[in-house]
Amino acid sequence: MFLKARILIGEIYIMCGIVGYVGKKSVVDILLNGLTKLEYRGYDSAGIAVSVDNKIEMYKEEGKLQNLKNLVEPKKDYLKSSTMGIGHIRWATHGAPNTINAHPHSCTCGKLVIVHNGIIENFKELREELKNDGCVFRSETDTETLAHLIAREYGKVNNLTDAVRLATKQINGAYAICVMHQDVPNTIVATKRNAPLLVGIGQNEYYVASDVPAIIDYTKTAVYLDDNQIVTLTPDSMKLINSFSVELQPHIETLPWESVSLSKMGFKHFMLKEIHEQPSIIRNLLSGKIIADNQPIKLDEVKLDLDTIKKLDRIQIVACGTSLHAAMIGKYILEDFCGISVDVEPSSEFIYRKTTTNDKTLVIGVSQSGETADTITAVKQSKKQGSHILIITNRPDSTMAREANSLIPVNAGIEVSVAATKSYMAQLISFYLLALHIAEIKGSIESAKLMALKHGLITLPEKAEEILDHKKLIQEIAKKYANFKNFVFVARGLNYATALEGALKLKEISYINATGYPAGELKHGPIAMLDESMPVLSIMMKGMVYDKILSNSEEAKARDARMIALTNSDDEKLNDLFEDIIRIPDVDEYLSPIIAIIPLQLLAYYIAEFLGKDVDQPRNLAKSVTVE
Ligand code: F6R
Repeated sequence: MFLKARILIGEIYIMCGIVGYVGKKSVVDILLNGLTKLEYRGYDSAGIAVSVDNKIEMYKEEGKLQNLKNLVEPKKDYLKSSTMGIGHIRWATHGAPNTINAHPHSCTCGKLVIVHNGIIENFKELREELKNDGCVFRSETDTETLAHLIAREYGKVNNLTDAVRLATKQINGAYAICVMHQDVPNTIVATKRNAPLLVGIGQNEYYVASDVPAIIDYTKTAVYLDDNQIVTLTPDSMKLINSFSVELQPHIETLPWESVSLSKMGFKHFMLKEIHEQPSIIRNLLSGKIIADNQPIKLDEVKLDLDTIKKLDRIQIVACGTSLHAAMIGKYILEDFCGISVDVEPSSEFIYRKTTTNDKTLVIGVSQSGETADTITAVKQSKKQGSHILIITNRPDSTMAREANSLIPVNAGIEVSVAATKSYMAQLISFYLLALHIAEIKGSIESAKLMALKHGLITLPEKAEEILDHKKLIQEIAKKYANFKNFVFVARGLNYATALEGALKLKEISYINATGYPAGELKHGPIAMLDESMPVLSIMMKGMVYDKILSNSEEAKARDARMIALTNSDDEKLNDLFEDIIRIPDVDEYLSPIIAIIPLQLLAYYIAEFLGKDVDQPRNLAKSVTVE
């Protein structure tokens, strides 16, 4: 019964990126450039379909986008005159990541082509039905079913828009699609349900894309499609209808974006560049919000007044992956500073149980992309239950942001590397601002402590810079430990989440089996694994639990584990206990997670780089995880 309720809210299953263009310009570079900007959405295979002399031609290649670019390069002169096309970058859901399953897909006669983000849930039934009708299937994908289905409708109604409209009525699931038909020249039809899609408007030209970066080099004017709207684009016209064929007035918006630079700025990888951006991200986020130690924090984005805050009996935070780790630190400081009980739960768990969020709960959704399917669903469910929804995201234009009652844009700038670094930092700073802001309104924190924390926050960028200036040592430590197969990170209190995040960074880009534990839990099981083949990195920040972690580290050392410390202490005792010590500048214990994560990001980076891994695009991952 509960699952049924969830489906009614609307599930979201999208990976991949799509792009389309119809106009007067040569289309191939527009498509390839757009796909480059969407590469964060997947990189299993890529393809384009273009109209050349009113004939549709497809180019597809498995693997990275570069393979498609290499395939197309020798044909560029020949394809120069083409001014209409669609493109796709894939993260495989149905069917192996090979050339046959790469998009675009076509109908039996090859005249209709489609690119698709999403999953057609009833594709198996439809596939059988279409096969019985004589359709010839070439791939294992759900998308191909849609190509045949639309083609079948087109055969009946002889109108591409209507064919798309009638076909999408027969499918369950989520989709954003772009369709072209050889017999309907200069026309792209696009539609969506529970997947993002926008139409960029130029001079006698239109663009379609899953996300803004794909089109922002060409236009800042766009229409975000709503679910079940169908748009028909020609170089000179845009017609928007709903699923009943009623014509709609498009809501044209100006995109609040600058052209997206994908430059590594001299760094070897985007990840390293993004790690280095963190001091200025902290500075920018604090600027205008903490004006002076003795002045209230300005957080106008948060639409919670004293009455509402007083009525709150709890806060529920939902997030996934790295954002979940930021949320764990958020819980710690919100409870401590504001005296409100806070639960944190992975969104994927939250949405499959009977939850008790209501109008006395503040629900915080945290997401870099704002497109994570599980978090969107969690937020939508809570909104239905009457909760105030606060979204912390790097994408104020995202699907999740559109659900917000209060929105904190973290302004980290586009994050290209799949492993999140700077967006985590920006989420952390946002949580500190939020917790201190609520505490200030409630009067739940001593003013001396509040002033000290505000002051401490302002000094953080310099401390982060100091860590980056000493990265050579971390690089050496990385080399020393790069060939270990397992790694344990331990910490207590606030920095337990730092241990989890450090371990996640290492495993996702180097594929080393790294795990984070609360140090006190080691002896309840994990200690059995320890021996000389297992490095243990102890996060030892001065404060309440410092001595406890010291004892836990002694216990690990006694089992011959290779010991590494990350600390802000100059305690001499550490030299005997630890083989390697990464020292970071001194900082208030409460603020320590903000800078403690930087050496761990660098450690993961240098280990992966030393091992020759694909740092920015690790295997099996995509930046926006929009499937369940
Ligand atoms: C790890 C990473 C992922 C994301 C997670 C949630 O480096 O990037 O764990 O944090 O997929 O994504 P968002 O924050 O976009 O909801």
